[in-house]
Amino acid sequence: AAIPVLTIDGPSGSGKGTISRVVAGRLGWHYLDSGALYRAVGVAAGWADLDLDDAGALVRCAFDTGIGFRDDAAGELRVLVNGHDATDELRTETAGAAASAIAAIPEVRSALKERQRAFRKAPGLVADGRDMGTVIFPDAAFKVFLTASAEERAERRYKQLKDKGVSVTLDGLLREILARDARDASRAVAPLRPAEDAVRIDTTGQGIDSVVERVLALVPGRT
Ligand code: C5P
Repeated sequence: AAIPVLTIDGPSGSGKGTISRVVAGRLGWHYLDSGALYRAVGVAAGWADLDLDDAGALVRCAFDTGIGFRDDAAGELRVLVNGHDATDELRTETAGAAASAIAAIPEVRSALKERQRAFRKAPGLVADGRDMGTVIFPDAAFKVFLTASAEERAERRYKQLKDKGVSVTLDGLLREILARDARDASRAVAPLRPAEDAVRIDTTGQGIDSVVERVLALVPGRT
């Protein structure tokens, strides 16, 4: 039988990352943070001073950038870009915007396709992103689309960044989130939209635990 995949797609701040990590842990499945791949390529392109309009150079960058994941002692996922721990840099809104810009280039998306599919390993995979259920794993047995109001998503990001000592304003974050959503939803390739067979869950006002339980309930015999 095919190795089972649970896709969790949604806009930034919908809770995808947190929910996916917890669900993968509970199932004992592998985890793919596909946004981290786009962020890593965006950041590597910045390090190499590449022009964000030079599609050819960005595609080479997407193929050549070394991207590794490992859990640190505290159980936090660290991301290595060309061997450097770039986790903190990847989380910034600058890296998110760079990711969103390069993610609109079709050839960059194809360059990352096989790298993403390679994460499908026994006993299963939880894949988090924008097009996991629509493009990368259309045959996934379990598909979820998470949403939350833009205001709540901005507040979640605000708390995360403030805890890290990053100075941002709630208003500025809300504007950035709305701009990134609009770009992700309106691009020609792999726009952000729920797969037809995805279960939609609105996480506005819901705690992590209740969303985790609703997602786990979709996977038979695994709750
Ligand atoms: O999920 P995250 O916020 O880390 O993703 C950063 C950006 O990468 C998104 O705004 C989106 O443009 C892009 N992305 C994508 N497809 C994915 C994951 C992320 O286009 N599967």
